[in-house]
Amino acid sequence: MSSLLYVFLLFAAFISHSGAARPATDPPVKDMYNNPLIVGIRYFVLPLTPGGGGLTYIETQNTTCPGTVVQDQNEASRGIPVKFWPSVQSTTVNVSTDLNVQFPDYTIWRLDSFGTDQYLVSICGVRGNPGRETVSNWFKIEKFQFNYKIRFCPTVCDECRVMWRDIGVFVKDGKRILALSDVPLMVLFQKA
Ligand SMILES: *[C@@H]1O[C@H](CO)[C@@H](O)[C@H](O)[C@H]1NC(C)=O
Ligand SMILES: *[C@@H]1O[C@H](CO)[C@@H](O)[C@H](O)[C@H]1NC(C)=O
Repeated sequence: MSSLLYVFLLFAAFISHSGAARPATDPPVKDMYNNPLIVGIRYFVLPLTPGGGGLTYIETQNTTCPGTVVQDQNEASRGIPVKFWPSVQSTTVNVSTDLNVQFPDYTIWRLDSFGTDQYLVSICGVRGNPGRETVSNWFKIEKFQFNYKIRFCPTVCDECRVMWRDIGVFVKDGKRILALSDVPLMVLFQKA
């Protein structure tokens, strides 16, 4: 065997081995007391960035949806809790999994465009039916340093071309609006 071919085969073996090293399922997200997040249970989403409190929503004008997800103005407020509903059957809320995020009054998060270059999180989504029609209704929780971040990177539709970006905060008229951002909002979860 030529030594060049041998090097190639070694390299190919390395690649397939590192591919197989990925865990079969993504692990559960943990709350602030290190318990796994459970599907359908209410959790406060607590940002660790100073300047605002937990998550809530406000009425907005000139937006596609009249309700927009924001950080509470009061830094001491935990906001209102959410429930997470994965796109696939699961008892735990796992990282990197497509999730519907629901406030207690049945409103579901959705990504909406705002102006020409902003995308913000509204409450006009619908629950379930993963696929092309609902692609803007799915969010993921990802590990971020020792905590978590929320990301818009739906994988409920193979042929949909959507931008994959983190959810951060866009400040407008003093309101801390959740929006696509290059600076992710670092969060942790507390059972309500
Ligand atoms: C979530 O994680 C749990 C525990 O590791 C696992 O049993 C379950 O199958 C996972 N769910 C999904 C949808 O991957
Ligand atoms: C909504 O749009 C109208 C028309 O462009 C504008 O006059 C008004 O100030 C806007 N309201 C807000 C709250 O931005």
